[in-house]
Amino acid sequence: MDKIIVRGGNRLTGTIPISGAKNAALTLLPCALLTDEPLTLRNLPRLADIDGFQHLMNQFGVTTVIQGSRPEDFGRVMSLEATRITSSVAPYDLVRKMRASILVLGPMLARMGEATVSLPGGCAIGNRPIDLHLKALEAFGAEIELAAGYVKAIAPDGGLPGGDFDFPVVSVGATENALMAAVLANGTSRLFNAAREPEIVDLCNLLVAMGAEIEGIGTSDLTIHGVKRLHGATYRVMADRIEAGSYACAAAITGGDVVLGGARADEMQATLHALQAIGCEVEEVKGGVRVAANGPLKATNLTTAPYPGLATDMQAQLMALLCKAEGTSVLKETIFENRYMHVPELSRMGADITTEGRTAIVKGVSTLTGAEVMATDLRASMSLVIAGLAAEGETQVRRLYHLDRGYERLEEKLQLVGADIERVGDD
Ligand code: UD1
Repeated sequence: MDKIIVRGGNRLTGTIPISGAKNAALTLLPCALLTDEPLTLRNLPRLADIDGFQHLMNQFGVTTVIQGSRPEDFGRVMSLEATRITSSVAPYDLVRKMRASILVLGPMLARMGEATVSLPGGCAIGNRPIDLHLKALEAFGAEIELAAGYVKAIAPDGGLPGGDFDFPVVSVGATENALMAAVLANGTSRLFNAAREPEIVDLCNLLVAMGAEIEGIGTSDLTIHGVKRLHGATYRVMADRIEAGSYACAAAITGGDVVLGGARADEMQATLHALQAIGCEVEEVKGGVRVAANGPLKATNLTTAPYPGLATDMQAQLMALLCKAEGTSVLKETIFENRYMHVPELSRMGADITTEGRTAIVKGVSTLTGAEVMATDLRASMSLVIAGLAAEGETQVRRLYHLDRGYERLEEKLQLVGADIERVGDD
């Protein structure tokens, strides 16, 4: 297995190209199931999860073609065509590797009248139920059965009637599944307290481009008027605001000055505000967002929350940055109950962090030291790379499959701005 070796101390400067958003791509890809016409997605990140999703779509009989992309380019174009769906079953073997597979449930049910999906695996960041996905589909008229580790959703003869659902907690995944099911329902559906993350807006924009009728896009109350059929479309995946935020933290911890090429400030306000509170300079520039850390880093208090609050997906990276800030920071994780698995690893590098339940107290230290550390989930892995960039000596990060799920050619992008980082085979 490969590992990443980071030698800390280099100041990062220059431009980092930001890829298409993984979390948007993984909800745009299953939209191909909603039409028998081709769906072409541009700016797809080259990531293990995207390859996995492509494989899952092939399993249903969807043909996929990757168009003219050179290996040196970031991003890819994929055309998907679900002329005929040959299977409506998402097997355990594929789903366990990728939690996002659950997102085929809604569109498959809408198109085929039934769908069978294995219960998902994915990041080990707490107990991640799918009850809200199922309740929303039930509210639209589906019948749900759970047996032998699989969920089976069945629509009445003639298709889903549609209906109303009020989410008791904001769920990104459940909102996505519900949207993709409702667009082909016979009637009108309404979602209350829906997630309004930029990735949800991206999904709505694609569905509208395919002929869907959705009101309230970008708000937490969505009205979806079901249509008889959707058509094909060509659509560009939004920039990855979490990847951009991660590189902003990487630059900041080195006292660097980088432009996040292609990033959109309006989609990452909470992260940019956090960086400003920590003492970074942040500005929108032509073609991206510039983040510079010219003065000392300062402690701050942060709480994750559904959008437009601070993304839970930024918590680990910001924590790594705060390890080197002057003073004591308090972090609260309100989305997941077990998302501090990077803390013991950061501590091995000399960080001073204590946790109690969902709260972490980070006392800034003047020196982090390189160590051999183990990645535990996607964003946790990135936090270790960030700490390594500012640590004295060498940091080795293992279990790179986590990083490869969400960061397109991480080491190449960091090398572009001057980091001393490389991927080597494990010995
Ligand atoms: C969440 C994040 C998303 C992030 C992703 C990967 C939020 C609101 N969502 O999305 O930004 O990209 O993790 O790290 O920050 N829940 C239920 N039942 C369900 C579904 C969810 O109780 O059926 C709960 C979860 O346990 C969690 C909360 O709702 O406490 C939000 O979960 P959800 O938004 O669904 O998670 P993801 O879609 O995985």
